[in-house]
Amino acid sequence: MRAADQPRNRFLRRSLPLFLGLLLLLCCAWPLAQQIWDEAGALEVNRELNRPELIAKGRYLAVLGDCKACHTSVDGLPYAGGRALEVPGLGTLYTSNITPDLKAGIGGWSLEEFERALRRGIGEDGRNLYPAMPYEAYAKVTDEDIRALYAYFLFGVKPVHNEPPENKIRNLLSARWPIQIWNWLFVERDVFEPDPEQSSVWNRGAYLVQGLTHCGECHTPRGLAFQEKAYNERGRGFLAGGPVLDGWEAYNITPDPDSGIGKWSAEQLAQYLKTGHVNRLAQAGGPMAEAIQNSFAQVHDDDIAAIVTYLRGIPAVKGKDRSPRQSRGTPASDVIPLRGNTFEEDIGGGRENAADGARLYLGLCASCHGVDGAGTSDGYYPSLFHNSTVGAHSDHNLRRTILDGVSRTVDGHEKMMPGFARQLSEVQFEALLRYVRRQFGSAETEPAD
Ligand code: HEC
Ligand code: HEC
Ligand code: HEC
Repeated sequence: MRAADQPRNRFLRRSLPLFLGLLLLLCCAWPLAQQIWDEAGALEVNRELNRPELIAKGRYLAVLGDCKACHTSVDGLPYAGGRALEVPGLGTLYTSNITPDLKAGIGGWSLEEFERALRRGIGEDGRNLYPAMPYEAYAKVTDEDIRALYAYFLFGVKPVHNEPPENKIRNLLSARWPIQIWNWLFVERDVFEPDPEQSSVWNRGAYLVQGLTHCGECHTPRGLAFQEKAYNERGRGFLAGGPVLDGWEAYNITPDPDSGIGKWSAEQLAQYLKTGHVNRLAQAGGPMAEAIQNSFAQVHDDDIAAIVTYLRGIPAVKGKDRSPRQSRGTPASDVIPLRGNTFEEDIGGGRENAADGARLYLGLCASCHGVDGAGTSDGYYPSLFHNSTVGAHSDHNLRRTILDGVSRTVDGHEKMMPGFARQLSEVQFEALLRYVRRQFGSAETEPAD
């Protein structure tokens, strides 16, 4: 009898193909099985995250993070993306669609992918996001809050199918890998760590200011590579006044009494953040008005109080000012003799008067801000002396205010000042600006130290 015919070998010969077949099937089916397993796992995670209270928490965190400011579409669809952001020297970026649309948005994203985008600036397909997305600040956000944000964006937001346009970046600069080096050099990776020496209110404020509300994005000075010089109060220059972005300058908001907000009371600071308006002190225009309208006005009072506590406790940073911006200027008296002239008489007819700042002021501004610049007695139209924008060291924000006006809606009430870009020639604009600065803000009228 040959060995091959022995029953054991016969058994082997017959079962080998079956065995190989099974192995092949297993090899092919394994990835599929893995996928099914993963999806079941993800579904389980998602079921756990799709809870109303978590979604509500995420909605509030999205307000704190002001995600709408940048991610709202041109036609006003929240989170549908496509808003153009001009980045100096780079080009135009269009914000992403972050609604849960499966194709155009982040509907297919896992919690891990979402976390990577928010805290590390890594977007779809692993590409590095431009730091116009404030991930340097969001890096501080805790795991718990990231989960709530994810729950909100995946289950609490309506999907919108909107494909934002492609970024328009100059060819040479379009590679994204340098961002990785930039991140490595400048971005702090660590999630916020409470300081045990400080109160829980202070720590809550620190967490919000450094993290979601990203105050430093606008208010912290930048270094050579346009990186924020500090990401928390331990770094030098934190919140000591940012660069001019889109013509607006975010002032020093450290507690320095002359250069910062050291002379503001806690109540004034809270009122400013909630409403954008404190008469005889400051009003919010431009990007700060937007941040207040979309975000801070809806922030809970205890969180505003925490922000205020933290801000008032960070190290003061001294700038060039020798007196606070909001202390400058005096009421006008020189325009009173001109009162009663028609606007045409003031600036129109006699061309020699056309560039007279006082006349321009009377014709264009006095109807609301008063002949003397004191505003209305109820403070609705604010005083222009003792006004931080007029008294500020540089005139960037005053220029933008006069050209673009102010518009801010808080609690359904709109505060509106028209822009005058089209009414003023270059010469008139400069004359008006000089007048307003000299009369209502000039350093010459600074009280002696
Ligand atoms: C100051 C503007 C700004 C704010 C505020 C902002 N983003 Fe972004 N975000 C951007 C820009 C710009 C991009 C695209 C960057 C790019 O193309 O590299 C982006 C990209 C993203 C991406 C990646 C999308 C993708 O397809 O890769 C996600 C996710 C995201 N943002 C979520 C958020 C969330 C959540 C918030 C609020 C907590 C938020 N963003 C706040 C500007 C902003
Ligand atoms: C998107 C940019 C941006 C962000 C984010 C931002 N600010 Fe501002 N902030 C500005 C600008 C610009 C001004 C000047 C507004 C003006 O002159 O009308 C300003 C003004 C202020 C002022 C008034 C200062 C003065 O003397 O008039 C305070 C206080 C302030 N911001 C606090 C904050 C705090 C606190 C945060 C974060 C919770 C914050 N800002 C986030 C841009 C920003
Ligand atoms: C129709 C009424 C009206 C006219 C006219 C007007 N303003 Fe205003 N102005 C306002 C209102 C309303 C605000 C916002 C008040 C607030 O923020 O609560 C404002 C705010 C300001 C601020 C503070 C803005 C900031 O961001 O800090 C300045 C400065 C200012 N106006 C200057 C002027 C000058 C200069 C003129 C004339 C060229 C002028 N305004 C004309 C109504 C007016």
